Amino acid sequence: MVYQQRRLTLLNQVKPDSVVLFAANQIVYRNNDANFPFRQHSDFWYLSGFQEPDAWLLLSNKHGKQESVMFCLPNDKLAEIWHGRRLGVDNAVAELAVDAAHDVANLQEKLVDYLDGAEHVYFSLGENKANDECVMSVLEVLRSAPKQSKLAPTSLCDPRPLLHEMRLIKDEHELSLMRKAAQISVQGHQRAMRFSRPGIYEYQLEAEIHHEFLMSGARSPAYGSIVGAGDNACILHYTENSDIIQDNALVLIDAGAEYQGYAGDITRTFPANGQFTPEQKQIYQLVLDAQLAALEWYRPGFTLQQASDKAIEVITDGLIELGILSGTREENIQVNAHREYYMHGLGHYLGMDVHDVGDYKKDGQDRAFAAGMVLTIEPGIYIAPDADVDPKWHGIGVRIEDNVLITSDGYEVLTAELVKEPDAIEQFMQGSTQ
Ligand code: GLY
Ligand code: MN
Ligand code: MN
Repeated sequence: MVYQQRRLTLLNQVKPDSVVLFAANQIVYRNNDANFPFRQHSDFWYLSGFQEPDAWLLLSNKHGKQESVMFCLPNDKLAEIWHGRRLGVDNAVAELAVDAAHDVANLQEKLVDYLDGAEHVYFSLGENKANDECVMSVLEVLRSAPKQSKLAPTSLCDPRPLLHEMRLIKDEHELSLMRKAAQISVQGHQRAMRFSRPGIYEYQLEAEIHHEFLMSGARSPAYGSIVGAGDNACILHYTENSDIIQDNALVLIDAGAEYQGYAGDITRTFPANGQFTPEQKQIYQLVLDAQLAALEWYRPGFTLQQASDKAIEVITDGLIELGILSGTREENIQVNAHREYYMHGLGHYLGMDVHDVGDYKKDGQDRAFAAGMVLTIEPGIYIAPDADVDPKWHGIGVRIEDNVLITSDGYEVLTAELVKEPDAIEQFMQGSTQ
């Protein structure tokens, strides 16, 4: 069982005589009696696979004894008729491969016993006020009870650096889910391209993407889907998706499926009517050239900074060639002139969170790529409608984003199946039956 193995891997890295605590997410209400869809906390999910709210996971190596304990909601006929099935305390041990399970209603008093005599408590302070207070009050009970021979832990540690190092390097189980998330995300984009035509609303393309996600078993997008046509493509986090798509507009779609807890994160930019204008094609080709050049640096031993510098170099050269920037490459790079048109980073870690956990620096140095990391690679060029350039470029926004696994000797593009050469996009769209 992968979750049990991960718990042991974590327990083997914490200090002796430690208790490690993780809280599940809770239901969040959006408006009167209606809640947001429940999404488990990624750390909790990674270590337990358990999908219910209001649970806590405890890992302990106190006095040299390793154990995993789940606190969860008990079976309750009436509550389950109203709100859905619960695993229940009795089933938790076998189903979740933990050593013990308790009713979460008894969390505080049980924690007093589990923490008594441990030296260290690991807990992610600052994520949830009520959870922080729960842990603090348990520590307070222990501190104030020396006459009952209770011994409070003396150090509070953050489990996230250890856990997030684990999450940064994906295991085989995770990679199979990430391949599936990538595949479903590709299908969503393909469907949007097939359905694209001038005169429909951006949200109608969003609907086609989400249709594909749900039909393939991805119950949610991994983040708010961006469907921006025309000038809207120049708004980086545009999620209103409410405008009519005009003829000759470029459509930028940044959308990814979440499949069993793992995110896809793809951007494609295509002409609404299936044919790029010459200016759109020139900017598109430049972004693609930058992406392909930077991709060659996505190999073990190189850094995201090196790849990013390569993308900036290609984009700067290209913008000079197109007359959008003037001066030499060196002059422009010196003052980061590209930032007017390419104002975000090249990529980020991808996993259970779309902007996934893991440090980008180690010992003050840029961190080298390592096998098992998954990242995005997503250069873009966005020329605002009022930019101080030839108006023929105005309102062109292009981003191309793929998901890349670092392998032992290079990289694998998990989203390679989705067309991205401009001619291939035109062919794909013109060959569509919609
Ligand atoms: N979709 C969010 C991002 O590309 O980072
Ligand atoms: Mn994205
Ligand atoms: Mn991204």
